[in-house]
Amino acid sequence: MTAPAALISARGVVKRYGPLTALDGVSLDIAPGEFFGLLGPNGAGKSTFMSLVAGLRPVDGGTLTVDGAGVSAGSRAAREALGLVPQHIALYADLGAETNLRIFGELYGLRGRELRSRIGEVLEAVQLADRRKDLVKHFSGGMQRRLNLAAALLHRPKLLLCDEPTVGVDPQSRNAIFEFLQELNRGGLTVIYSTHYMEEATRLCSRVAIIDHGQILALGTIDELLARLPFEEEVRFPANEATQALLGELEGHGELAVKEGVARFRPRTDYPLSRFYGLTEGRGLSARLFTSQRPTLEALFLQLTGRNLRE
Ligand SMILES: Nc1ncnc2c1ncn2[C@@H]1O[C@H](COP(=O)(O)OP(=O)(O)OP(=O)(O)O)[C@@H](O)[C@H]1O
Ligand SMILES: [Mg+2]
Repeated sequence: MTAPAALISARGVVKRYGPLTALDGVSLDIAPGEFFGLLGPNGAGKSTFMSLVAGLRPVDGGTLTVDGAGVSAGSRAAREALGLVPQHIALYADLGAETNLRIFGELYGLRGRELRSRIGEVLEAVQLADRRKDLVKHFSGGMQRRLNLAAALLHRPKLLLCDEPTVGVDPQSRNAIFEFLQELNRGGLTVIYSTHYMEEATRLCSRVAIIDHGQILALGTIDELLARLPFEEEVRFPANEATQALLGELEGHGELAVKEGVARFRPRTDYPLSRFYGLTEGRGLSARLFTSQRPTLEALFLQLTGRNLRE
């Protein structure tokens, strides 16, 4: 028998909570070894998708397979193959860091020396080895996040579901987590990672799905997604008397918006920026008035959903 190409395969997956449809026909494949991003605003359905993959809830429609087998709530084999870093910290606050990890490790069947060495390993990885005896309730928010991640890695899963794992984590620790996850990913771990941070998705993910209202709006590599934007660059400049005439000349050559005294011009793909700068030079406008930027996932997101990712 040949191995299935996709580690995770979703076809028309539907999930309802009473009258609310949280996932509305989600189809995607995730190959082994991918670092796959789920991007979407609050309530998009990211956590719901993860909970289905983790077998925590049944699917209401469509099919969802992990490693070729249908996921069903409570399946032990499925549970052992994956680690879940839940969005909401799931730790025992009144117990120490190490004790927490021992409890989680035992749930996965780890015992004795092996358990102790795995605990040491993950605590090092999230840089909490020196705080192993401290009670979780005395940890800072970011430290609790890091321990939450450590708990999901104890049993060396093949698939890691990270649901916004870096919220409240300081930049340095965040960086350490990224490097650690990237190293695990290079070693073959498949990662599904949900985030509101575009920089994270751009840095980490080989492919991303943008979801909203339980539906996939776009799916592909970051470059593929950015190529969908109908402009290649955006220029911003103050909208004032000096640039008034320029604004008029740009009409019809792209998307032009003025908000709070700032003009934003996204030229159509057949209108090269050299022409734009030709106009500004002709009018004697200083180049310092203009800042340009390449399209970002944020812009794509705004275009697809009409909303910013973080509101
Ligand atoms: N246990 C539940 N019972 C009822 N409704 C739920 C439940 N969990 C999620 N929902 C609803 O399902 C929708 C999707 O929620 P979900 O938590 O999957 O979104 P999300 O993309 O993870 O959002 P966030 O970025 O805020 O974490 C929301 O409308 C939410 O209110
Ligand atoms: Mg969520």
